[in-house]
Amino acid sequence: MSAVSSAVEMFDLDTAAADLALAAIAGLGSAPKTLPCKLFYDKRGSELFDRICTLPEYYPTRTEVGILRDRIDSIVEAVGPKVQLVELGSGSSIKTRILLDALLDPVAYAPVDISREHLWESAERIHRDYPSLQVQAVCADYTEPFGIPDPRRTPARRVAFFPGSTIGNFDEDEARRFLRRIADIVGVGGGLLIGVDLRKSEEVMVAAYDDAQGVTAEFNLNVLHRLNREAGADFAVDQFEHRSIWNRELGRIEMHLVSRVEQSVEIAGQRFDFAAGEAVQTESAYKYGLEQFAAIADGFRVERVWHDSEWRFSVQYLVVEDEPADQRPGMSAASG
Ligand code: AVJ
Repeated sequence: MSAVSSAVEMFDLDTAAADLALAAIAGLGSAPKTLPCKLFYDKRGSELFDRICTLPEYYPTRTEVGILRDRIDSIVEAVGPKVQLVELGSGSSIKTRILLDALLDPVAYAPVDISREHLWESAERIHRDYPSLQVQAVCADYTEPFGIPDPRRTPARRVAFFPGSTIGNFDEDEARRFLRRIADIVGVGGGLLIGVDLRKSEEVMVAAYDDAQGVTAEFNLNVLHRLNREAGADFAVDQFEHRSIWNRELGRIEMHLVSRVEQSVEIAGQRFDFAAGEAVQTESAYKYGLEQFAAIADGFRVERVWHDSEWRFSVQYLVVEDEPADQRPGMSAASG
């Protein structure tokens, strides 16, 4: 934890040193080859993602922002007053601000983000525009266990905010474990306001990840540029191409980088061979039905669902309820 001479407090959790080369080597050594989607978000990748969010084909951002704007009164009513708002990722200030502008007497705001620089800048901007709100920035990888500081004033409840359908990046087991951990962090009586992308026609979903201007292709290929720059790799980036497919069995969009030719690449002295046409999966984006999502929301009960008129995207408020008596420690049936 480090005290900084600003009204924004920064809490540095000891995250394992994010070793780019190791992560890439592990993924490329597996069969089929993968690269973790966390690698997208260097400075260039974050800029490209911001551009993706404005593309005509990329419906999620604009649809979610529309839902938040149109239904904010109902959202604020569900979430309640005097909350400690914990944002997972310090991403879109637009969405955060829609909430902060409407929440009743929020007690504190704790953005959690792995990118220290991005976190600091967005926390400073929030502090500048909401000077009476306590801002406690937590630098941590929210896919790993983390803690949240207690604010000066006692909140009525903790509410986590996880917009963008980033939950779609997790496979089913990871999503369950993640939601379980968030339920533990917000505690009984706490809540989670989450953006969940819904299943729809394949053309709409595939196009959202393969736009006509090629911005998503550039975003995907940027991972290879990044590995060349930061991990000593020697990818011939123009020998790979972007692909977006709908995996019907698994209910997810997959982004791949496909090797155009037979080639090999070295990263930190390790060699990886690619066959012509071989794919490296760089991202999954699961799309949910409402019942299907409720079934993986371990530790939570779905209290409210808001959606757009075309049912493209949902914003959901989940609450943590006291465990049923028969699941409490000491209350279970005797075993052994
Ligand atoms: C930020 C992870 C939700 O999966 O839609 C956008 C990332 N990838 N276009 C998504 C992304 C390609 C985005 N998430």
